[in-house]
Amino acid sequence: MKDASPQTIYLKDYTPFGYVVEGVELTFALAPEATRVKSRIRFAPNPDATDRTFFLHGEDLTLISAAIDGSPVTPTLTEQGLTCEVPDAPFTWEAEVEIAPAKNTALEGLYMSNGMYCTQCEAEGFRKITYYPDRPDVMATFDVRIESDLPVMLSNGNPGTQDGGVAEWHDPWPKPSYLFALVAGDLEARSDSFTTRSGRHVDLNLWVRPGDLGKTAWGMEALRTSMRWDEEVYGREYDLDVFNIVAVDDFNMGAMENKGLNIFNSSAVLASQDTSTDANFERIEAIIAHEYFHNWTGNRITCRDWFQLCLKEGLTVFRDSQFTADQRSAPVKRIGDVIDLRARQFPEDQGPLSHPVRPESFQEINNFYTATVYEKGAEVIGMLKRLVGDEAYDKAVALYFERHDGQACTIEDWLQVFEDTTGRDLSQFKRWYTQSGTPRLSVEESYEGARYTLTFRQRTPATPGQSEKLPQVLPVAVGLLSPGGEEVLPTQLLEVTEPEQSFTFDNMPDRPIPSLLRGFSAPVVLERESDAAEQAFLLAHDTDPYCRWEAGRGLARGSLIASVVDGADPDGAWLDALRAVVTDPALDPAYRALMMGLPTQSELAQALYEKGITPDPDAIRDAVEATVRATADRWADDLRGLSEEARVAEPYAPDAQQSGKRALGTRVLSLVSRLDGGSAAEAQFEAADNMTLKLAALGNLVRLERADDALAAFEAQWKDDRLVMDKWFGIQIMSAPAPVAVERAEALTGHAAFDWTNPNRFRAVMGALVSNHAGFHRADGAGYDFLAGWLARLDEKNPQTAARMATAFQTWRRYDDDRQAKMRAALESLRDKPKLSRDMGEMVARLLG
Ligand code: PHE
Ligand code: ZN
Repeated sequence: MKDASPQTIYLKDYTPFGYVVEGVELTFALAPEATRVKSRIRFAPNPDATDRTFFLHGEDLTLISAAIDGSPVTPTLTEQGLTCEVPDAPFTWEAEVEIAPAKNTALEGLYMSNGMYCTQCEAEGFRKITYYPDRPDVMATFDVRIESDLPVMLSNGNPGTQDGGVAEWHDPWPKPSYLFALVAGDLEARSDSFTTRSGRHVDLNLWVRPGDLGKTAWGMEALRTSMRWDEEVYGREYDLDVFNIVAVDDFNMGAMENKGLNIFNSSAVLASQDTSTDANFERIEAIIAHEYFHNWTGNRITCRDWFQLCLKEGLTVFRDSQFTADQRSAPVKRIGDVIDLRARQFPEDQGPLSHPVRPESFQEINNFYTATVYEKGAEVIGMLKRLVGDEAYDKAVALYFERHDGQACTIEDWLQVFEDTTGRDLSQFKRWYTQSGTPRLSVEESYEGARYTLTFRQRTPATPGQSEKLPQVLPVAVGLLSPGGEEVLPTQLLEVTEPEQSFTFDNMPDRPIPSLLRGFSAPVVLERESDAAEQAFLLAHDTDPYCRWEAGRGLARGSLIASVVDGADPDGAWLDALRAVVTDPALDPAYRALMMGLPTQSELAQALYEKGITPDPDAIRDAVEATVRATADRWADDLRGLSEEARVAEPYAPDAQQSGKRALGTRVLSLVSRLDGGSAAEAQFEAADNMTLKLAALGNLVRLERADDALAAFEAQWKDDRLVMDKWFGIQIMSAPAPVAVERAEALTGHAAFDWTNPNRFRAVMGALVSNHAGFHRADGAGYDFLAGWLARLDEKNPQTAARMATAFQTWRRYDDDRQAKMRAALESLRDKPKLSRDMGEMVARLLG
């Protein structure tokens, strides 16, 4: 990293702002090209600060007037904000600025989406609305007045006067500016209510554009379930009279937890049987919960600075995964999270973008809303809970809420409540927050005279900016099985804290078989000399659902790697052992579906790379396809029965049970379509009464290049539904045969409905290409040039979404020299572009390393 850049911000440089804000009043006169924002802010000197520089952030604002205590002032304006002489005592700051929401394509600050006004202020968007100390440790109450002729005008908190043309909102809870929100438009609501357990009546509204009301039932139900769950499990109640959710079509992220006014990407809230898959329903339920849970973990207790982002995000992701585990199947959720972590966080931590869960520096904070901060951050909380135990966890979290309500906190505050509750010293554990990289844990065993010994060794490879690594606290959940498959030692938690550490188990009459890292108790790479016989044994007998699944994964990985490297046939013993699990009617269909999944091609590329073998994307694709075909042949006699089992007789419901059956059916259909040329898929496409089955069928038809009619019919039916059309765009590229994927993507960018300034549509196309591993990594570099060209174009309009998509290049050093050279060239062409955004500039510099 180039520290020379003047814009790098460091955690170690934190100082409090020189003033406290005692209250904010805002008045918005809305107009697309010229919205006027008046602010009236009461400041007082901050007794905890030494630096009294009065600097207010402000970007892309036209200052109309400014006054202090009623007298006009002339502040000094810069690109980033303003400074001004101010009294050495409490004072009132007033300013009026003009902004142009209709011209705001970055979707940060106040912008327009389909004729509707909306805001996005996290992390640093409020400074595009008015001059303000736009930092999370400045908390204040907000009173907002909105003037326009639009029928619905919303802001944070509780409603005040709502008269023709004017709406007032009062938020009694002090909050940082990043939680500010405003929405205005021609909207309709699904309304409901909730009574908190202490008796507060809360009006709930889910606001959508006219026409979308039919897709709001699921989101509303998820909200009510989340509210109840947070009361029951964390003792947290809602604290306002209304809770509003708004669906917005143009949104950079999934959703945003603004106080009392959550704003959602419509893809993260709107759902119906016809238009959404089971996976969409589950994701929506989780995101609604996530944003709602932020009300306590994020809003009531917020972050001191953006380096502490994991304080709210890691904890809230952990809470939403607990919630999903409770609503659905805990083991299935856990395995899904592991798959996701390995697909998104491990590559990040193993490449040029690796950073600690709590980063120490950044240029653009938007680049740090990452899988490391969110998902690894959640894993860290999970480890803490395992280490201290469930009861101590509950006590510590209760103390956190009690001690820090209303404050802007740090990771130190969070760890302190655990130290105070348990008396434990967490200084070594804290390395999970400060040290980047994925720890490798190797295991050796010995058995002598009824004594069984496990010896662990840990090391973390060097990462950018951190060459030396210290040992971490690794909670390793272990069970031991007898050769007959009995559990001789139920799950124990071993704490590996040393570089090398042994644990002994006495009185073992037979050499036990270890079941290691149960429940994926730490986010590490477990390095163990793969022993197919042991993995087959665990696949058949392990009582821990994660380890059982992982045993199957290990065998799959071994078989696939042998196919790639030596052209070996798929491992028949593995397929037979797997068949026994997959056809076991006693097991949950969702779990069986997970068992049928293969590692992704990108994951296999990484596995090869770590073995010192340069991954060839075409060879990997061929090996995967050969393996799927061999599976279909070998299981041919079971497929009909499995399809029967996967059939749902009841009316459609997106619950865990039905979704699990359909997930199993989808796996089976993909095998069947290897044998029947696609006729079952065609029949399913015709007959399907829900999007899950429809899209699964369509994917197979696209892969088999017999989807023309189906795609045309699908488009005709759904051309007016943006979310469904995102699926239509994506699947044609994602499921396309690799050699034609780039051309498909290119052709689709010429389609009239390819509105590339809409982040969902842009991602539907670009993300789909990247997920087609061999297609994106085509040897001639066409995929790289295509993506880089579009990133350059989008960067001018929407830096945040463009820079995020650039992470597709983070694995570039894995591949052969030729591909590396082509990816480097694509990145350099981006780097050398004039007027690159700060987001993209930092991203490309880090990627090039
Ligand atoms: N804070 C949001 C969440 O995790 C994510 C987000 C970040 C949304 C930045 C918009 C902008 O729930
Ligand atoms: Zn969040």
